[in-house]
Amino acid sequence: MTEEEFYRIYTFLKNRYGIDMSRKKEIIKGRLENYVKNHGFEDYHSYMNAVEADKTGEMEKKLVDMLTTNHTYFMRESEHFDYLRKEVLPYLKKKEEKNKDLRIWCGAASTGEEPYTLAMLLMDFLGLEKEQWDTQILATDISTEVLTHAMQGIYTKEQAEPLPEHFKRRFFKNLPDGEHVKVTDELKSEVLYRKFNLMDPFPFRRRLHVIFLRNVMIYFDDKTKTKILQKVYDALEPGGYLFIGRTETVDRNVVPFELVQASIFRKREV
Ligand SMILES: C[S@@+](CC[C@H](N)C(=O)[O-])C[C@H]1O[C@@H](n2cnc3c(N)ncnc32)[C@H](O)[C@@H]1O
Repeated sequence: MTEEEFYRIYTFLKNRYGIDMSRKKEIIKGRLENYVKNHGFEDYHSYMNAVEADKTGEMEKKLVDMLTTNHTYFMRESEHFDYLRKEVLPYLKKKEEKNKDLRIWCGAASTGEEPYTLAMLLMDFLGLEKEQWDTQILATDISTEVLTHAMQGIYTKEQAEPLPEHFKRRFFKNLPDGEHVKVTDELKSEVLYRKFNLMDPFPFRRRLHVIFLRNVMIYFDDKTKTKILQKVYDALEPGGYLFIGRTETVDRNVVPFELVQASIFRKREV
Protein backbone atom coordinates (compact mmCIF):
# COMPACT_ATOMS: atom_id res chain seq x y z
CA MET A 1 0.00 0.00 0.00
CA THR A 2 1.58 3.29 -1.10
CA GLU A 3 1.45 6.40 1.11
CA GLU A 4 -0.96 7.95 -1.41
CA GLU A 5 -3.31 4.98 -1.31
CA PHE A 6 -3.18 4.96 2.47
CA TYR A 7 -3.93 8.71 2.56
CA ARG A 8 -6.87 8.27 0.22
CA ILE A 9 -8.43 5.52 2.33
CA TYR A 10 -7.97 7.14 5.72
CA THR A 11 -9.26 10.56 4.57
CA PHE A 12 -12.31 8.89 3.01
CA LEU A 13 -13.05 7.22 6.33
CA LYS A 14 -12.34 10.31 8.38
CA ASN A 15 -14.47 12.65 6.27
CA ARG A 16 -17.48 10.38 6.16
CA TYR A 17 -17.42 8.59 9.48
CA GLY A 18 -15.13 10.60 11.74
CA ILE A 19 -12.93 7.53 12.20
CA ASP A 20 -9.28 8.51 12.40
CA MET A 21 -6.99 5.78 11.11
CA SER A 22 -4.20 8.12 10.04
CA ARG A 23 -1.74 6.21 12.20
CA LYS A 24 -3.11 2.76 11.40
CA LYS A 25 -1.61 1.89 8.06
CA GLU A 26 -0.78 -1.69 9.00
CA ILE A 27 -4.29 -2.30 10.33
CA ILE A 28 -5.92 -0.88 7.18
CA LYS A 29 -3.64 -2.96 5.01
CA GLY A 30 -4.22 -6.10 7.06
CA ARG A 31 -7.98 -5.72 6.85
CA LEU A 32 -8.22 -4.88 3.14
CA GLU A 33 -5.39 -6.79 1.54
CA ASN A 34 -7.10 -10.14 0.90
CA TYR A 35 -10.37 -8.58 -0.17
CA VAL A 36 -8.69 -6.29 -2.71
CA LYS A 37 -6.59 -9.16 -4.08
CA ASN A 38 -9.41 -11.70 -4.21
CA HIS A 39 -11.76 -9.31 -5.98
CA GLY A 40 -9.33 -8.69 -8.81
CA PHE A 41 -8.43 -5.06 -8.13
CA GLU A 42 -5.06 -4.05 -9.46
CA ASP A 43 -4.25 -1.85 -6.48
CA TYR A 44 -5.93 0.13 -3.67
CA HIS A 45 -6.59 3.07 -5.98
CA SER A 46 -8.66 1.00 -8.38
CA TYR A 47 -10.48 -0.48 -5.40
CA MET A 48 -11.27 3.02 -4.04
CA ASN A 49 -12.34 4.16 -7.52
CA ALA A 50 -14.86 1.32 -7.53
CA VAL A 51 -16.06 2.18 -4.01
CA GLU A 52 -16.62 5.81 -4.96
CA ALA A 53 -18.31 4.96 -8.26
CA ASP A 54 -20.70 2.40 -6.76
CA LYS A 55 -24.04 4.21 -6.56
CA THR A 56 -25.70 1.38 -4.64
CA GLY A 57 -23.43 2.09 -1.66
CA GLU A 58 -22.82 -1.65 -1.22
CA MET A 59 -19.07 -1.38 -1.68
CA GLU A 60 -18.77 1.46 0.77
CA LYS A 61 -20.82 -0.57 3.23
CA LYS A 62 -18.37 -3.45 2.89
CA LEU A 63 -15.40 -1.11 3.36
CA VAL A 64 -16.91 0.22 6.58
CA ASP A 65 -17.60 -3.32 7.78
CA MET A 66 -13.99 -4.27 7.17
CA LEU A 67 -12.42 -1.21 8.77
CA THR A 68 -14.50 -0.69 11.89
CA THR A 69 -13.48 -2.27 15.16
CA ASN A 70 -16.49 -4.00 16.60
CA HIS A 71 -15.09 -5.65 19.70
CA THR A 72 -17.68 -5.83 22.49
CA TYR A 73 -18.99 -8.26 25.10
CA PHE A 74 -21.84 -8.81 27.53
CA MET A 75 -21.53 -6.86 30.80
CA ARG A 76 -18.54 -4.89 29.51
CA GLU A 77 -17.49 -2.31 32.11
CA SER A 78 -20.06 -3.77 34.46
CA GLU A 79 -19.75 -0.92 36.99
CA HIS A 80 -21.81 1.13 34.50
CA PHE A 81 -24.65 -1.35 34.72
CA ASP A 82 -24.41 -1.35 38.54
CA TYR A 83 -24.65 2.42 38.58
CA LEU A 84 -27.58 2.34 36.19
CA ARG A 85 -29.45 -0.16 38.35
CA LYS A 86 -28.71 1.48 41.68
CA GLU A 87 -28.90 5.18 40.83
CA VAL A 88 -30.16 6.01 37.36
CA LEU A 89 -33.15 3.70 36.99
CA PRO A 90 -34.64 4.46 40.45
CA TYR A 91 -34.26 8.19 39.67
CA LEU A 92 -35.87 7.88 36.25
CA LYS A 93 -38.65 5.65 37.49
CA LYS A 94 -39.65 8.30 39.95
CA LYS A 95 -39.20 11.16 37.52
CA GLU A 96 -41.18 9.53 34.73
CA GLU A 97 -43.83 7.98 36.95
CA LYS A 98 -46.60 9.77 35.07
CA ASN A 99 -45.47 9.31 31.47
CA LYS A 100 -43.94 5.88 31.98
CA ASP A 101 -41.68 6.50 29.03
CA LEU A 102 -37.92 5.88 29.19
CA ARG A 103 -35.82 6.86 26.20
CA ILE A 104 -32.47 5.07 26.07
CA TRP A 105 -30.07 5.13 23.15
CA CYS A 106 -27.07 2.98 22.58
CA GLY A 107 -25.12 4.81 19.86
CA ALA A 108 -22.40 2.27 18.98
CA ALA A 109 -24.23 -0.97 19.52
CA SER A 110 -21.96 -3.28 17.54
CA THR A 111 -23.17 -6.90 17.67
CA GLY A 112 -25.82 -6.23 20.32
CA GLU A 113 -24.22 -7.33 23.59
CA GLU A 114 -24.46 -3.83 25.06
CA PRO A 115 -28.09 -2.98 24.17
CA TYR A 116 -29.26 -6.48 25.16
CA THR A 117 -27.49 -6.12 28.51
CA LEU A 118 -29.31 -2.81 28.99
CA ALA A 119 -32.65 -4.34 28.03
CA MET A 120 -32.21 -7.27 30.43
CA LEU A 121 -31.35 -4.91 33.23
CA LEU A 122 -34.35 -2.76 32.53
CA MET A 123 -36.78 -5.66 32.39
CA ASP A 124 -35.35 -7.08 35.56
CA PHE A 125 -35.56 -3.72 37.30
CA LEU A 126 -39.16 -2.95 36.34
CA GLY A 127 -40.39 -6.50 36.94
CA LEU A 128 -44.16 -6.80 36.71
CA GLU A 129 -44.54 -3.07 36.17
CA LYS A 130 -42.68 -3.36 32.88
CA GLU A 131 -45.89 -3.77 30.91
CA GLN A 132 -47.06 -0.31 31.83
CA TRP A 133 -43.83 1.28 30.60
CA ASP A 134 -42.55 2.18 27.17
CA THR A 135 -38.85 1.38 27.44
CA GLN A 136 -37.74 0.17 24.03
CA ILE A 137 -34.02 0.83 23.57
CA LEU A 138 -32.77 2.36 20.35
CA ALA A 139 -29.52 0.71 19.26
CA THR A 140 -27.57 2.11 16.32
CA ASP A 141 -24.29 1.51 14.56
CA ILE A 142 -22.70 2.42 11.26
CA SER A 143 -21.86 -1.14 10.29
CA THR A 144 -24.67 -3.16 8.75
CA GLU A 145 -22.81 -6.40 9.31
CA VAL A 146 -22.77 -6.01 13.09
CA LEU A 147 -26.40 -4.87 13.11
CA THR A 148 -27.46 -8.01 11.24
CA HIS A 149 -25.65 -10.10 13.82
CA ALA A 150 -27.28 -8.12 16.64
CA MET A 151 -30.75 -8.60 15.18
CA GLN A 152 -30.20 -12.35 14.92
CA GLY A 153 -29.26 -12.38 18.58
CA ILE A 154 -27.18 -15.56 18.39
CA TYR A 155 -24.06 -15.89 20.56
CA THR A 156 -21.78 -18.68 21.68
CA LYS A 157 -22.36 -19.98 25.21
CA GLU A 158 -18.95 -18.62 26.07
CA GLN A 159 -19.94 -15.12 24.99
CA ALA A 160 -23.01 -15.24 27.23
CA GLU A 161 -20.93 -16.48 30.16
CA PRO A 162 -20.35 -13.08 31.88
CA LEU A 163 -24.11 -12.62 32.36
CA PRO A 164 -25.73 -13.44 35.71
CA GLU A 165 -27.31 -16.92 35.77
CA HIS A 166 -30.85 -15.61 36.15
CA PHE A 167 -30.43 -13.44 33.05
CA LYS A 168 -29.16 -16.38 31.04
CA ARG A 169 -32.09 -18.53 32.14
CA ARG A 170 -34.70 -15.90 31.50
CA PHE A 171 -33.51 -14.24 28.32
CA PHE A 172 -31.74 -16.96 26.28
CA LYS A 173 -32.70 -20.21 24.62
CA ASN A 174 -30.20 -23.00 23.96
CA LEU A 175 -29.79 -23.84 20.29
CA PRO A 176 -29.76 -27.51 19.18
CA ASP A 177 -26.03 -27.44 18.30
CA GLY A 178 -25.27 -27.25 22.03
CA GLU A 179 -22.77 -24.43 21.48
CA HIS A 180 -24.92 -21.39 20.86
CA VAL A 181 -27.67 -19.50 22.61
CA LYS A 182 -30.25 -17.14 21.15
CA VAL A 183 -31.96 -14.19 22.81
CA THR A 184 -35.66 -14.73 23.39
CA ASP A 185 -38.20 -12.93 21.20
CA GLU A 186 -39.30 -11.03 24.29
CA LEU A 187 -35.82 -9.57 24.78
CA LYS A 188 -35.37 -8.94 21.08
CA SER A 189 -38.54 -6.89 20.94
CA GLU A 190 -37.10 -4.58 23.59
CA VAL A 191 -34.37 -3.32 21.26
CA LEU A 192 -34.87 -1.45 18.01
CA TYR A 193 -31.85 -1.65 15.69
CA ARG A 194 -31.14 1.01 13.09
CA LYS A 195 -28.17 2.05 10.99
CA PHE A 196 -26.95 5.50 11.99
CA ASN A 197 -23.76 7.48 11.42
CA LEU A 198 -22.82 9.59 14.47
CA MET A 199 -21.50 12.25 12.07
CA ASP A 200 -25.05 12.95 10.86
CA PRO A 201 -27.52 15.30 12.58
CA PHE A 202 -29.27 13.47 15.40
CA PRO A 203 -32.82 12.53 14.43
CA PHE A 204 -34.50 12.50 17.85
CA ARG A 205 -37.87 14.18 18.17
CA ARG A 206 -37.75 13.93 21.95
CA ARG A 207 -34.80 14.16 24.30
CA LEU A 208 -33.26 11.04 25.75
CA HIS A 209 -32.86 9.99 29.37
CA VAL A 210 -29.77 7.83 28.94
CA ILE A 211 -27.14 7.62 26.23
CA PHE A 212 -24.52 4.89 26.02
CA LEU A 213 -21.72 5.91 23.70
CA ARG A 214 -18.95 3.63 24.78
CA ASN A 215 -15.68 2.76 23.09
CA VAL A 216 -16.42 4.55 19.86
CA MET A 217 -15.07 8.06 20.43
CA ILE A 218 -11.55 6.65 20.77
CA TYR A 219 -11.63 6.24 17.00
CA PHE A 220 -12.46 9.91 16.36
CA ASP A 221 -10.18 12.93 16.20
CA ASP A 222 -10.72 15.70 18.79
CA LYS A 223 -12.78 17.94 16.50
CA THR A 224 -15.19 15.19 15.55
CA LYS A 225 -15.45 14.05 19.14
CA THR A 226 -16.33 17.56 20.34
CA LYS A 227 -19.00 17.96 17.68
CA ILE A 228 -20.56 14.64 18.58
CA LEU A 229 -20.45 15.39 22.31
CA GLN A 230 -22.21 18.69 21.71
CA LYS A 231 -24.98 16.89 19.84
CA VAL A 232 -25.16 14.30 22.61
CA TYR A 233 -25.48 17.02 25.23
CA ASP A 234 -28.31 18.71 23.31
CA ALA A 235 -30.08 15.40 22.80
CA LEU A 236 -30.18 14.62 26.54
CA GLU A 237 -33.01 15.49 28.91
CA PRO A 238 -31.96 17.74 31.80
CA GLY A 239 -30.82 15.28 34.48
CA GLY A 240 -30.06 12.71 31.76
CA TYR A 241 -26.95 10.53 31.80
CA LEU A 242 -24.12 9.81 29.37
CA PHE A 243 -21.96 6.70 29.69
CA ILE A 244 -18.68 6.58 27.78
CA GLY A 245 -15.90 3.98 27.67
CA ARG A 246 -13.54 3.82 30.66
CA THR A 247 -10.55 4.85 28.56
CA GLU A 248 -12.38 7.78 26.95
CA THR A 249 -12.65 11.38 28.08
CA VAL A 250 -15.01 14.33 27.83
CA ASP A 251 -13.61 17.86 27.76
CA ARG A 252 -15.95 19.63 30.17
CA ASN A 253 -14.62 23.02 29.10
CA VAL A 254 -16.36 22.40 25.82
CA VAL A 255 -19.50 20.56 26.91
CA PRO A 256 -20.92 21.47 30.33
CA PHE A 257 -21.51 17.98 31.68
CA GLU A 258 -21.34 17.22 35.38
CA LEU A 259 -18.96 14.37 36.18
CA VAL A 260 -20.79 11.82 38.29
CA GLN A 261 -18.21 9.07 38.43
CA ALA A 262 -15.37 8.01 36.14
CA SER A 263 -16.83 7.77 32.60
CA ILE A 264 -20.38 8.67 33.73
CA PHE A 265 -21.67 12.17 33.00
CA ARG A 266 -24.85 14.05 33.59
CA LYS A 267 -26.61 17.04 32.12
CA ARG A 268 -27.57 19.37 34.95
CA GLU A 269 -31.16 19.28 36.13
CA VAL A 270 -32.95 22.59 35.71
C1 LIG B 1 -15.55 -1.13 19.70
S1 LIG B 1 -17.24 -1.08 19.23
C2 LIG B 1 -18.00 -0.61 20.76
C3 LIG B 1 -19.21 -1.46 21.09
C4 LIG B 1 -19.86 -1.17 22.44
N1 LIG B 1 -20.33 0.17 22.53
C5 LIG B 1 -18.94 -1.49 23.57
O1 LIG B 1 -18.46 -0.58 24.25
O2 LIG B 1 -18.68 -2.67 23.81
C6 LIG B 1 -17.32 0.42 18.27
C7 LIG B 1 -18.52 0.49 17.33
O3 LIG B 1 -18.66 1.83 16.84
C8 LIG B 1 -19.13 1.78 15.51
N2 LIG B 1 -18.86 3.05 14.83
C9 LIG B 1 -17.66 3.53 14.39
N3 LIG B 1 -17.81 4.72 13.80
C10 LIG B 1 -19.13 5.03 13.86
C11 LIG B 1 -19.91 6.13 13.39
N4 LIG B 1 -19.36 7.15 12.75
N5 LIG B 1 -21.24 6.09 13.62
C12 LIG B 1 -21.81 5.05 14.27
N6 LIG B 1 -21.12 3.98 14.72
C13 LIG B 1 -19.80 3.97 14.51
C14 LIG B 1 -18.41 0.58 14.93
O4 LIG B 1 -19.07 0.06 13.80
C15 LIG B 1 -18.38 -0.39 16.10
O5 LIG B 1 -19.42 -1.33 16.05
